Amino acid sequence: MMWKGLLAEYKEFLPVTEKTPMLTLHEGNTPLIHLAQLSKELGIDLHVKVEGLNPTGSFKDRGMVMAVAKAKEEGSNTVICASTGNTSAAAAAYASRAGMRCIVVIPNGKIAMGKLAQAVMYGAEIVAIEGNFDQALSMVRKLSETSPVALVNSVNPYRIEGQKTASFEICEQLGKAPDVLAIPVGNAGNITAYWKGFKEYSERHQTSLPHMHGFEAEGAAAIVRNQVIENPETIATAIRIGNPASWDYAVNAAKESNGKIDEVTDEQILEAYRTIARKEGVFAEPGSCASIAGVFKDVASGKIAKGSTVVAVLTGNGLKDPNVAIDAHNVKPVVLPNDEEKVFEYIQGVVAS
Ligand code: F0G
Repeated sequence: MMWKGLLAEYKEFLPVTEKTPMLTLHEGNTPLIHLAQLSKELGIDLHVKVEGLNPTGSFKDRGMVMAVAKAKEEGSNTVICASTGNTSAAAAAYASRAGMRCIVVIPNGKIAMGKLAQAVMYGAEIVAIEGNFDQALSMVRKLSETSPVALVNSVNPYRIEGQKTASFEICEQLGKAPDVLAIPVGNAGNITAYWKGFKEYSERHQTSLPHMHGFEAEGAAAIVRNQVIENPETIATAIRIGNPASWDYAVNAAKESNGKIDEVTDEQILEAYRTIARKEGVFAEPGSCASIAGVFKDVASGKIAKGSTVVAVLTGNGLKDPNVAIDAHNVKPVVLPNDEEKVFEYIQGVVAS
C-alpha cells in the first residue's frame, strides 16, 4: 500500500478536521535501521530513526505538514519562521505546496549550505540577520502577534502534534517502545513531541515508556547549565541555540521519563558523525549526531545499561551540510592527471594496501 503521508495515515491522532487540507509530500514512514556493528561494540541493541529521509531531509517535515495545513485551514496566506536551516527548508517546501508565501529569518552565515539552497529553491523570502537563532525567534514571535502571518516555529502546537508521529512509528517498527530514546536538543520542540507521542502510544497499546536522553551541544547547553547562553557556539549549527523555547517541556520529559538532558562536545559530535558513516553507511548531519555521541557517552559511563534497546534519532540528512563533511577529514580527494596508466597505478596501489 502506498504511504499517504502523515495527515492521512495518522488522522485520528492529529488535529485533522473535515476542513483541513490534506497537504502532503509523503513525509514520515522513515526507516528504523539497526546498527549491527556498533551494537556489538557497545553491548546494546542500537537502532537509528533516519529522519533525514523525509522529503526535505529532516524531521521538520512531520511538524510542518501539520502546521502549514492548519495555517491554510485558518485562512492565512503567509507563514513565517526563524530557523537554523531545517525549519526554513520544510516551511518553504510545504508553503510552496500549499500555495502560500513563506518568510524565513535566519542567522547570517550560520546555516548549512544545503538548507539555504532549499529555501532559495522553494521560493521563500529569506531574511538573514546579523544575530543568532534566539534573536531571530524572538523577532518573529513578536511580529506574528501583530501581523497577518502564521508562525510555524515549534512554539506552534501543531508542530509538536505532527512531530509526535515519529514515536508511533518507532514503537510500530520495534514492536515495543525502546528502553532509551537518544535525541539531539536545540529549541527542545522535538524531545517534547517524542515524549508526548510515546505517552499517547503507551495509553493505547500499553507499551512501556522509554527513558528520554536529550543532548545539547556543549557550547549551547542552556538546559544543562540551567542558564540562557547569550552567544551559543557549536559546529552543529542546527542546534546552535542558547534559549530553547520548549525548555520547560524538555526538562519535564527528562524528569517524567527518569531520563536526563546532557551535553556533548563538538569533538564527540564529529567523532559520532564520522563513525556512523564509516562503520554503518549512515550519513546524518552533525547536529543529528549529538544523539549518537550521547549514546557513546552514556554507554561508557554506565548510564545506558548493557543489553538495552536504544533508538537514536538522526534528525537531518548528512547532505545538508557538505562543508562540515569535507572539513571533518584530513584526507582530501586525490587529484591525478587524465592519464590511464597513472590512474591505474594509483588505484592498484590502493587495492593492494
Ligand atoms: N537536529 C536538527 C538537524 C535540527 O535542525 C534541529 C533543530 C534539532 C536537531 C533540534 O530540534 O529544536 O526541536 O530541539 N532545528 C531548528 C531549525 C531549530 O530551525 O531548523 P529541536
